[in-house]
Amino acid sequence: MKKRALLGGGVERIEKQHAAGKLTARERVDLLLDEGTFDEVGMFVTHNCDAFGMGKQHIPGDGVVTGVGKVDGRPVAVFSQDFTVFGGSLGLAHAGKICRLMDLALKVGMPVVGMNDSGGARIQEGVESLGGYADIFLRNTLASGVVPQISAIMGPCAGGAVYSPAITDFTFMVEGTSYMFVTGPNVIRTVTHEEVTSEALGGAAVHNETSGVAHFQSRNEAECLQSIRKLLSYLPANNLDEPPAVTSDDPPDRRDPKLNKVIPADPKKPYDMHDVIGAVVDPGTYFEVAAKFAQNIIVGFARFHGRVAGIVAQQPAVLAGCLDINSSVKGARFVRFCDAFNIPLVTFEDVPGFLPGVTQEHGGIIRNGAKLLYAYCEATVPKITVITRKAYGGAYDVMSSKHVRGDVNIAWPAAEIAVMGAEGAVNILFKREIEASGDPVAERARLVAEYRERFANPYIAAGKGYVDKVIEPADTRREICRAMEMLRGKRESVPSKKHGNIPL
Ligand code: HXC
Repeated sequence: MKKRALLGGGVERIEKQHAAGKLTARERVDLLLDEGTFDEVGMFVTHNCDAFGMGKQHIPGDGVVTGVGKVDGRPVAVFSQDFTVFGGSLGLAHAGKICRLMDLALKVGMPVVGMNDSGGARIQEGVESLGGYADIFLRNTLASGVVPQISAIMGPCAGGAVYSPAITDFTFMVEGTSYMFVTGPNVIRTVTHEEVTSEALGGAAVHNETSGVAHFQSRNEAECLQSIRKLLSYLPANNLDEPPAVTSDDPPDRRDPKLNKVIPADPKKPYDMHDVIGAVVDPGTYFEVAAKFAQNIIVGFARFHGRVAGIVAQQPAVLAGCLDINSSVKGARFVRFCDAFNIPLVTFEDVPGFLPGVTQEHGGIIRNGAKLLYAYCEATVPKITVITRKAYGGAYDVMSSKHVRGDVNIAWPAAEIAVMGAEGAVNILFKREIEASGDPVAERARLVAEYRERFANPYIAAGKGYVDKVIEPADTRREICRAMEMLRGKRESVPSKKHGNIPL
């Protein structure tokens, strides 16, 4: 019986799986977990369906491998769908195995990693399959914010099946062999007459770059599973746990003089915020999330003197670092994840404001920008903010300002903190004076220079206590490490309520 279970759908189907460039469910589990740690449960579970000749086909395990193993010595609940058994399709018994595993993970407080490779609802089992999915969606939702949930898409994931990964915290996809869509190319051809391949409709690149559905893209399955291990190394086991700290030999007070030269003399010139992040975190610890989507905002994990932080940063090199719909949603989801799992937030701010345009307004930048604002307001984890250059308008408020309970707010000398940039402000305030002057161009330039001199600096905000310190950029790591240390015991709360109503 055990031998049959280990063979899944049989040698022929395993060969077909390999020929398609995919690993089997068990090979994936082995690559994900520390060697020899997998403790499988439910190996002999079979379905209870008679329809369409299913009564004669029972494969122990029913198309999903479930159990608990370890990643870097820490327990993780794992399920891995087996495409060689009924195409990995999900029936009641298959769903029951996943649900029991999730119930266990929630009880003991350990992350859940799900590897998806499935033809979707098992057609022969009808509505019971749909019920099985709903049972999983409910558990995904109840576990959200209690244990980290990670989905790896390693084959088909279509129809309603996409909604389990969609509720989980992070989704990984593999180039060329995985796809996700609600309705596939055939249905689309019939309904909208559009011609599209599975890869172009819902492959790894599409969901990492365009839709934002997936957060990580890997070249192959082994790389994908290694990335999941890396992600887990930053995460606590549950919402009552702290993220794992390590020892670091990078001194917390290490200065980096090259940071003093990062900001270009011309405030309109971009620079790469990755250079700032790379210079201040412990070397080699920066791990970016959703690196290819909404690149005007950067989110990811890193360590400061061994302690985990979530980094949120503008990217002046893309759309001048403006906040738009996609970057607000990306930032908000990440801030809320960090807040749910006790991960301090370090924000690097250089934001000229929200992105202007009819598309943005009609697309709901008001509603979507509010998500990031809401997320920062609500977050009670330690919040450290470094204003490297621009902090204009509503975006100043949003990005972890003192007013939304930023704990330590630091500015570089080049910081410009004001309602708007000098040119916009002068055009509004001095419209009549400029028109009446003999030389409007020279007059505007004079007023812009005067405004810049008076307002485009960090000292007015610092004078009001909205900025705690103006520091030499070279000292940024020291200031962040100090603040992280000081804020370790932070306790803050939100009023007791059933839940808030984030503007979705
Ligand atoms: C039962 C299924 C199945 C399914 C595949 N198989 N999907 N069995 N229910 N949903 C079986 C096949 O019969 C076949 O069995 C084996 O799995 C491998 O499938 P192939 O078609 O040979 O593989 P491939 O050519 O790689 O194509 C894979 C596929 C295709 C693209 C996934 O099988 C497919 O289109 N399946 C149906 C997808 C679908 O419409 N699912 C329902 C979606 S709706 P043998 O014995 O020949 O090996 C949904 C609703 C969820 O999921 C609702 C939640 C709210």
